[in-house]
Amino acid sequence: MNIILLGPPGAGKGTQASHICEKFSIPQISTGDMLRSAVKKESPLGIEAKKVMDSGELVSDEIIIGLVKERINASDCVNGFILDGFPRTIVQADALKTEDVRIDCVIEIQVPDEDIVARISGRRIHLASGRTYHISFNPPAVPGKDDQTGEDLIHRADDYEDIVRERLGIYHEQTQPLVDYYSDDNEEYISSSKFIAISGVGSLNDVSDRIVNALRS
Ligand code: AP5
Repeated sequence: MNIILLGPPGAGKGTQASHICEKFSIPQISTGDMLRSAVKKESPLGIEAKKVMDSGELVSDEIIIGLVKERINASDCVNGFILDGFPRTIVQADALKTEDVRIDCVIEIQVPDEDIVARISGRRIHLASGRTYHISFNPPAVPGKDDQTGEDLIHRADDYEDIVRERLGIYHEQTQPLVDYYSDDNEEYISSSKFIAISGVGSLNDVSDRIVNALRS
């Protein structure tokens, strides 16, 4: 099963992607995590991406498309994958189409903008694994520490309120048109992939149940 997760920053894509991956035994491909790993390693890509990411802008389509193409051709993707944070522009979606990448299901997680800022400002992440916590809604067992490794959690540079609002603006302008791309506008995709819109409001488990039920229906 090849799945795309769409939704604004902080909608819970990363959180839900890790649940779906466990349930369906397919890898999670998060372009945000891939970029953060490149930033941590200070690779040429990481150095180029850091400034763009910290300001809440999108990294260039060319770079991201190259990264994803290489990743989905890896051997662990033969039985499917879940794309978390890609595509984010029409150009990126067109690249999947041009490469004949089959998409079985597109899931849009809907969360109102007002809820997003509260969620993101409380988010803490474990940089090495991408595991995500929230200081109130999904706290780690020991404050500030990753449950599995005990390592420090960080507050992402792009998770401060002014940058979150910038990212929301970019989402509405550049990524939201993909909802029409996959649901209405694009007849080829209507016939080959299922589009599911679910509410991302409620507990983590409620949202997860909605997604799994929709995928199984
Ligand atoms: P990326 O890391 O992909 O960020 P994003 O899409 O903005 O998404 P987030 O990771 O912020 O949120 P999420 O939806 O995964 O939510 P989460 O599960 O963490 O991208 C970062 C940057 O990289 C971009 O700005 C861009 O620069 C670049 N980039 C990446 N991909 C790119 C691309 N394709 N093209 C160009 N540039 C690209 O949840 C958020 C918080 O809420 C957590 O604390 C969580 O615990 C909590 N939470 C989750 N669910 C619930 C719930 N139901 N109730 C309460 N709290 C909840």
